[in-house]
Amino acid sequence: MRILRIPAGLAVGGLLLVTAPVHAETPPPDAPVIARDDHLFKTFGGHDGLVRITDDLFVFVLADRRINGFFEAKKIPHIKDMLVEQFCQILNGGCTYTGKDMATSHAKLGIHEGDFNALVEDLQKAMDKNHVPFAAQNRLLAALAPQHRAIVYKPNGSEEE
Ligand code: HEM
Repeated sequence: MRILRIPAGLAVGGLLLVTAPVHAETPPPDAPVIARDDHLFKTFGGHDGLVRITDDLFVFVLADRRINGFFEAKKIPHIKDMLVEQFCQILNGGCTYTGKDMATSHAKLGIHEGDFNALVEDLQKAMDKNHVPFAAQNRLLAALAPQHRAIVYKPNGSEEE
């Protein structure tokens, strides 16, 4: 299945076009709910699976010299908890995201395109390690892709991406 791997940049950019419709009944504060039932959530191993994936994500992120400088050790437990909530909400796992919106939490960080793609690559590695099927990975990435706009730094508020 390696042969099907999409480079992170392409996955994020390309999947913007195929984002699944938002679930109309439970409007979330930030990320869209993409699953109508909990099948996709189960594919990720449910809540425990998301905790394992997020733990592994941060093992990869902290070893990743491209982006580890962004993360202060004392903030990591909170970021992990919020990511689990957000992924769980997106996958219709019965959670409600309680964190800050993406623009506010990333506003002062100066995150560039390459940083965003590096984090997506690390997330793909964490999902691979936890045996999440490729199609399911892409559904989560498709739901995260629109957040790119809020997270990546834009000089002087420009709309350039
Ligand atoms: C799809 C991509 C991303 C998602 C879904 C995401 C999600 C989150 C969430 C949920 C939080 C916690 C918000 C809160 O405090 O309530 C957070 C914080 C943070 N994120 Fe991201 N993030 C993404 C991309 C990135 C990237 C690419 C970087 C840097 C390379 C990054 C660095 C940080 C940092 C440093 C914080 C802590 C900010 C602070 O409180 O000082 N994030 N992110």
